[in-house]
This record gives sequence, C-alpha cells and structure tokens, in this order.
Amino acid sequence: MKVLVTGGAGYIGSHTLIALCKAGYEPVVLDNFVNSKTECISRVQSITGRAIPVEPLDVRDVAALTGAMQRREVTAVIHFAALKAVGESVQKPLAYYDNNVIGTIRLLQAMQSAGVKSIIFSSSATVYGSPDSVPILESAALRPESPYGQTKVMAEQIVRDAAISSKDIKVALLRYFNPVGAHESGQIGEDPRGIPNNLMPYVSQVAVGRLQKLRIYGNDYPTPDGTGVRDYVHVMDLAEGHVAALNRLAATDAAETLTINLGSSKGSSVLDVVRAFESESGKVIPYEVAPRRPGDIASCYADASYAERELGWKATRSLNQMCRDAWNWQRQNPEGFGG
Ligand code: NAD
Ligand code: UFG
Repeated sequence: MKVLVTGGAGYIGSHTLIALCKAGYEPVVLDNFVNSKTECISRVQSITGRAIPVEPLDVRDVAALTGAMQRREVTAVIHFAALKAVGESVQKPLAYYDNNVIGTIRLLQAMQSAGVKSIIFSSSATVYGSPDSVPILESAALRPESPYGQTKVMAEQIVRDAAISSKDIKVALLRYFNPVGAHESGQIGEDPRGIPNNLMPYVSQVAVGRLQKLRIYGNDYPTPDGTGVRDYVHVMDLAEGHVAALNRLAATDAAETLTINLGSSKGSSVLDVVRAFESESGKVIPYEVAPRRPGDIASCYADASYAERELGWKATRSLNQMCRDAWNWQRQNPEGFGG
C-alpha cells in the first residue's frame, strides 16, 4: 500500500519512513525542504535498503499535489508538513496559518480530487495549553496559547469537518507529546536550525561541545524536584504509532475520526533528563538555573491508554534509551546533516 508522507524529510517523518518500510508499506515523500535536507532521505534509503520516491513540492500547490497522488497511486496520507516553532509563530502568525491551516485545506482538496480516503494528521499536546490536571485525556479542554497551537486546533477541526461531510474519509488525529531520541543506527535524528529551543537537542549539543552549558528554566515549579515535567516519547515509538494508526484505519470500511494522544504516560523532569543523558553519554552536562521561560507550564503528560485500547500501541522505549539514541546520533553527526 502506497502512502504519501508530507514532511517526510523532517524529524518525525523520516523516522516514520523506516517504520513504514519495515511494516511493508511503500512511502512516497512530499517535502519542500523548508526545514530539512535531502541528505536525510539518502540516509533513510541506506538504512532501509529501499528506494523512496520524493516529490519536492509545497503542500499548498493543490494541482501538483493532486497530480502526484494520482501518478503515485497513493491510498493514504500522513500529514507531517508544518512549521513548528512556538516562538516564531508569535512573530510570524500569518506564515504559520498559511502553511499549517491553508496547507491542510489544500491537502484535503487534493485528496478529494485524487480519491484518497485516509489521512493521519500530526497534532500536538500544545492544543491543551495549560491543563487543569495531569495526566491529560483526549477529552481535556483545548486552550492553545500560541498561533502555532491555534493552527493545530483549527487544522484538526477542518479535517474533522471534511470527514463528516464526505462520509467516507477515515481520519486519525494524533496528538504527540514530546518526541525525542533518534533511530538506533545514529544515521538520522533531530537537526534543528540555529540554537535549539528544546531540551533534548540542547543537552545533546552541550554534551558534544557545541554549546557551553544548559540553562534550566525554573526550579521552583510545583513538581517533585521543582523543574518542569514533560512526557518524552521516543521518536521510533511515535513512528510505530503511525503504522498502528494506518493499520487501524485500513482494518475498517466505515468512515471514522479518531483523536488520540501519543505519549509515554510518564512525566520526567528536566533534572531527570540531565541525569539520564549523563549516564548514557558518560559526559557531564554543566547547567545553571535561570528564570522560568515565559509560556512554560509546570507539568504536562499524557494519559495514553486510549492509544493502547484503540490502536494496540504503547510506548516501550525508556528515557535512558531516548538519551542513548539522541547521543549516538549527535556524537556521530556533531553538525547534524551538515551543509
Ligand atoms: P520538521 O520541521 O522536522 O518536519 C516538517 C517537515 O515538513 C520538514 O521537512 C519541512 O521541510 C516540511 N514542510 C514544512 N512546510 C511544508 C510545506 N508547505 N510543503 C511541504 N513540506 C513542508 O518537524 P517535525 O518535528 O518532524 O514535526 C512533524 C509534525 O509533527 C509537524 O506537523 C509538527 O507540528 C508536529 N509536532 C511536532 C512536535 C515536535 O516536538 N517535534 C510535537 C508535536 C507535534
Ligand atoms: N528547558 C530548559 N532549558 C532549555 C530548554 C528547555 O530548562 O534550554 C525545559 C523547559 O522549561 C521545559 C522542558 O525543558 O520544562 C521541555 O522543554 P522543551 O522546549 O523541550 O519542550 P516543551 O514541552 O516546552 O515544548 C514541546 C514542543 C512544542 C510543543 C509542546 C507541547 O517543542 O512545539 O512541546 O506539545 F508545542
């Protein structure tokens, strides 16, 4: 079965290509490379031993998208393509609504023209904003706190409404918590532009000597050690979650829309991550405590039991393995994919 993977050259998309190949699916990548490099696809091809076709297109080009879907005879889409930096979305909201919301509308229009009936959409725990309680269930209130978060809430609703009106589209809206780690080969991994905003790539770059020390944003939160608690989920577990969702959609003829948290259901603090990373890398991570980062919340982790019931999926890789694989990628590729 051929699957169009928009944003397939990006961090989560590239890892998902490997899981798809392993499960017998035939992925076709569509990416405009605004935040990724073609080298990543070459690495995936060498890991999987498979030639993966690439359509170097923008997801908003509905005519080209329709043509690509028909030519490649795809029967399902996984829609990763989006801009994802929370801070940048505050500076450039129109670029985010254009790319993430209009991009999703164009994709749905192309699917309609090409007769493609299944879509898996990349949503985010950011749709919950500051939750009333943890762990977070899918039924929790949606209170996004940035234009980026708003694009995810809006795009989810647009996909749902398109499914209701067409009566024959199958949808999985997957809300990821904090994806980290890398493929165990160390050949692909997260390669952020500039100085990383996120904890794991920042810690990795301190360990490899590209950055001097970590700043821990606040140690006075109401959490066990005072630092922020998040639900880190190994990117290969997440990749396998997409395969489970595809299998689930393929197993039924009825139209349906599933909304599912993908997380580990475990909360880890910043200091837990630092300690696990030190133990797996053998490096000391120097840090200082800095003021809280505006917009951060104390604690965010999933109740991912619905994913287990509905998809038969559960995250299996530990925080130590996430750190081990992140380090393995970083030490083999200190400059990421380079150039
Ligand atoms: P990424 O930036 O590494 O990958 C996104 C890919 O989409 C990139 O290859 C980029 O070039 C491509 N792209 C962007 N706009 C495009 C367009 N208009 N046309 C074609 N290609 C386009 O990001 P990622 O971390 O792999 O995230 C994948 C998805 O998961 C995104 O939708 C993101 O919002 C969502 N998500 C990510 C996280 C996270 O922490 N990484 C958490 C929750 C949800
Ligand atoms: N942190 C530090 N120092 C750093 C970076 C992060 O102490 O240099 C702390 C943060 O304060 C937070 C934790 O590490 O407590 C995790 O921060 P990240 O930036 O790695 O992740 P967030 O949970 O803030 O954000 C992530 C994604 C967002 C997404 C959000 C909710 O980056 O895109 O999860 O899904 F919106």
